[in-house]
Amino acid sequence: MGSVNNPYTISEKTQEVVDDYNSFVAGGFAPYPVALTRVKGAKGWDVDGKEYIDFLSMYSVVNMGHGHPKILAAAIKAMEEGAVINLPFHSPYYGKLAKKLHELFGYDKFVAMTSGAEAADAAVKIARKWGYMVKKIPDGKCHILTAAACYHGVTISTVSLASKKSHLFGPFVPSVGSTSPSGKVVAFGVIDDLKEALEIDGDNIAAFMIEPIQGSAGIISPPKGYLKEVAELCKKHNVLFICDEVQTGLGRTGANLSHLRENVRPDLVVLGKALAGGMYALSGVLGDDSVMGLLDPFEIGSTMAANPVGCAAAIAALDVLVDEKLSERANKMGALLVSTLEAAKLPHVKEIMGNGLFYALVLDDKPPKVTPRRIVSLLAQRGVLASAAGLKRIRICPPLTISKEELLKGCEIVIGAFRDIEDMGELPAEVLVDVRH
Ligand SMILES: Cc1ncc(COP(=O)(O)O)c(C=O)c1O
Repeated sequence: MGSVNNPYTISEKTQEVVDDYNSFVAGGFAPYPVALTRVKGAKGWDVDGKEYIDFLSMYSVVNMGHGHPKILAAAIKAMEEGAVINLPFHSPYYGKLAKKLHELFGYDKFVAMTSGAEAADAAVKIARKWGYMVKKIPDGKCHILTAAACYHGVTISTVSLASKKSHLFGPFVPSVGSTSPSGKVVAFGVIDDLKEALEIDGDNIAAFMIEPIQGSAGIISPPKGYLKEVAELCKKHNVLFICDEVQTGLGRTGANLSHLRENVRPDLVVLGKALAGGMYALSGVLGDDSVMGLLDPFEIGSTMAANPVGCAAAIAALDVLVDEKLSERANKMGALLVSTLEAAKLPHVKEIMGNGLFYALVLDDKPPKVTPRRIVSLLAQRGVLASAAGLKRIRICPPLTISKEELLKGCEIVIGAFRDIEDMGELPAEVLVDVRH
């Protein structure tokens, strides 16, 4: 473990990795200077063999732990069968996965994509088609409403859904976003905003899409009962309710799907990230025949969507979610995490917000040296992987399979980092603006 007097230096091997990235990669998500070469369970090892406890799950991708043996075996089996892409033929895995999702969550149909952004984009398309065909919204008038500060990805259509966007990428997809056609801005968690937007513009709104807990905005929980009120308002105005569960789904917030905590049933559910256990890229949308049945061939899909390896991994990942009772485990380990950090009375932390194993440490008005990126950098130096969330939050989201010992060891490092951060000198990557999280 590093000490206050021990400056953080980046090893030569890590620097090589960082240099390749900085020299030849464009865009990306402003990674911290940690170069992982191996991960297992709730642990990772970098190019120098240094060990880390994973308190991030790579943004909720690894709910079932890194390299879960059952998921790994299923993915390897499909790979060995040579089944990488099935388009335009059948693979037994896609229909089997859709059936499993039906049995687990009760929706009639599933359509697969690869990234979360593509799945969110697919949900918008499906909702628009429903808006025109079923709700009979006049041509060109269909609006998809979101909540301010939402995050559904960074493709051109998904940034269009967001409230804040750089004008350098415009023009954006019209008639989507957190402002209703008449100009009412809908804040997340504020039911009166939605009520007003639907009263003014409900006739032309096909869907309201939200994250049950806003993840990338900084793990922002809405007031209790919000999802239920949203579902009721949507029903009253004949508006589809879409839950983007890309980050919150599959056990992360202490329920197999986060909206189930409020016992609501959205019309469409967007899945991604942990769907294939972090082993492969897979995402998709769940919904009933009344909506999904409107889709014709060639309207939603892509070459790699529904790839057999991803589907095989997802079947195994869903088995692990249920068999290992990972939602229950998230609640149990989450309670331990919160009680341990609360008991330590962390300096600079005014609140611990979240559910399950999906938490943000919310910083108070802090001295200049206490920034999320500095804290995350110090955590990395001391062997814990976490991330900044916005300008005032640290995201703590370990794999749901993390052991009690690993969790407590990680907490001890977090507690030490908060106590020492003000005395630390310059830390690597502290000045990068993390635009996404
Ligand atoms: C709620 C939500 N939707 C969509 C996405 C986009 O997923 P992807 O990065 O796989 O495109 C994310 C990613 O963080 C997300 O949190």
